[in-house]
Amino acid sequence: MERTCGNGTLRLADAGKKVTLIGWVQRRRNFGALVFIDLRDRSGLVQVVFDETLSDSIKDVRSEYILQVTGTVVERKEANPKMETGEIEVHAEAVKIINSAATPPIMISDDTDALEDTRLKYRYLDLRRPSLQKILMTRHKVCMITRKTLDSMGFVEVETPILARSTPEGARDYLVPSRLYNGKFWALPQSPQIYKQLLMIGGMEKYFQIARCFRDEDLRADRQPTFTQIDVEMSFVDENDVFAVVEKLMQAIFMEIRGYKVEDHFVRMTWDECMKRYGSDKPDLRYGYEIQNIGEIFADTDFTVFRTVLDSNGEVDAVKFDQAASRYSRKKLDELQEFIKHNFRAKALAWLKMEKGELSGSIVKAISDAEKQALIEKLAITDDDLVLIVADKPHVAETALGALRIRLAHELDRLPKEETYKFLWVTDFPMFEWDEEEQRWQAAHHPFTAPRVNDINELFTDPEHVMSRAYDLVLNGYEQLSGSIRIYDQNMQEKVFESIGMTMEQAQQKFGFFLEAFKYGTPPHGGFAIGLERLIMVLCGTDNIRDVVAFPTNNSAVDLMSDSPNVVDQAQLDILGLSINKKD
Ligand code: AMO
Repeated sequence: MERTCGNGTLRLADAGKKVTLIGWVQRRRNFGALVFIDLRDRSGLVQVVFDETLSDSIKDVRSEYILQVTGTVVERKEANPKMETGEIEVHAEAVKIINSAATPPIMISDDTDALEDTRLKYRYLDLRRPSLQKILMTRHKVCMITRKTLDSMGFVEVETPILARSTPEGARDYLVPSRLYNGKFWALPQSPQIYKQLLMIGGMEKYFQIARCFRDEDLRADRQPTFTQIDVEMSFVDENDVFAVVEKLMQAIFMEIRGYKVEDHFVRMTWDECMKRYGSDKPDLRYGYEIQNIGEIFADTDFTVFRTVLDSNGEVDAVKFDQAASRYSRKKLDELQEFIKHNFRAKALAWLKMEKGELSGSIVKAISDAEKQALIEKLAITDDDLVLIVADKPHVAETALGALRIRLAHELDRLPKEETYKFLWVTDFPMFEWDEEEQRWQAAHHPFTAPRVNDINELFTDPEHVMSRAYDLVLNGYEQLSGSIRIYDQNMQEKVFESIGMTMEQAQQKFGFFLEAFKYGTPPHGGFAIGLERLIMVLCGTDNIRDVVAFPTNNSAVDLMSDSPNVVDQAQLDILGLSINKKD
């Protein structure tokens, strides 16, 4: 079908040109004998004017009809600054109705008022909105830049199976029953983890894949059951080699997509330091408000609350917010206390305010003048400062203040006004985490992650303090990437299985083929996976993961458009040897 250019590409410089356009009718207005139609295609909108010679042929045309129009580009008498093509319009000379359209159930416009569930049901109409089209195009560009950049560094794109064996990522698997082997199941991969390591054993040296992953886990604002990773694995590397690849890739993506120059090398911080300073393993570094340990000031305190906490290996931590005392009434501070009690099981929130040179607050009567003076000096407290204090178990005190740090930065509107991207490498994660339900240690990342070299001897004696060679890349408070340097020695792998209470028999049953492969000269290797959706979310400035996925599920993991998951025919179940035994 003939079209000479995209509707949204026309500018004043095109005035006088004859063009043929195709597009959907965004809006129709009648002015006497003249009809004005905004015609939309992927590139944008342009106003087309039809005079009385054509008005009859378009008398039935309504929203979302598709028209092909031939006409001349003309400068508008009065420009419309709200439209990118607002300096011109097209005077139609011929028109053909390509297709009609029923009245759409949602308004197709960026300021649509339709509920998200309705938009998801009619996702194909929702996708016509310019903002969603822009996001999908950004996503496409990021994939192209990724392929180009990784290719230039010698990486090879390899696909791995979708029908696979259960992988060790730790979420629940989506299972696919086997027709040929009734009673046996495939698992959809939670990530290509095992395959990419096998590719290293297979001699590929540098692998990547833009890989679909499937996880049956509780959904959050930044999680989907089906999502995509930029998945990478490399042989003969240490952390520095891996980080250099990621930094180069991020530089290319942020420059091409946002015109933004990111640092050559990203800041690195151990997990331990991160928790102590920010109370989170994914801190947003666009603002300060660091946590300060003020335990020393209260080493000999008479204040029994702090005394008891410090005597039982707890911590007294504080965050100072400048110019905030006057913004937080007692009622608001009570709300903050409820927030940390409810979400972090913190016992209480103490606070101090400096107003007109006077310190006031919930603990001002309980602490001594010397302690007050020491606090003022340590935290450099000045007028209108608000200090929030939590005394509790270290993890509780840190995470509660970490959450308050984020909440107040937003409430006080302290995020930088200009576009800012703060990357952070978080390293040296704990190797294990305690599983309350099963009463045993679990691999925190996955069981193929190498322990930190100096910690190997403590694998069995002090698992809590064994750190791993796992790393995350955090961007503006989002975990963008996870990865690790892997174990490549069979003895070490067996030790790690043992330390998480997995017998060699169980390990053999689960990953036997993988362990077998380790015998034949496994290269030292490591890698990472970037969550593609989370990267696009940051690049497009949305905090809703569904905005960056063409056909997402809603937050109850249901695809409203195709109404799935759904029942299947009995015949399909019979052939798979399955019968349904509902849980409830
Ligand atoms: P991990 O499980 O941490 O590591 O995942 C890597 C990155 O994938 C993204 N991500 C998700 N994005 C959307 N929805 C989800 N449900 C979801 N789950 C994870 C996150 C996360 O940082 N195989 C290892 C990587 C490796 O060691 O190489 C892995 O999958 O951005």
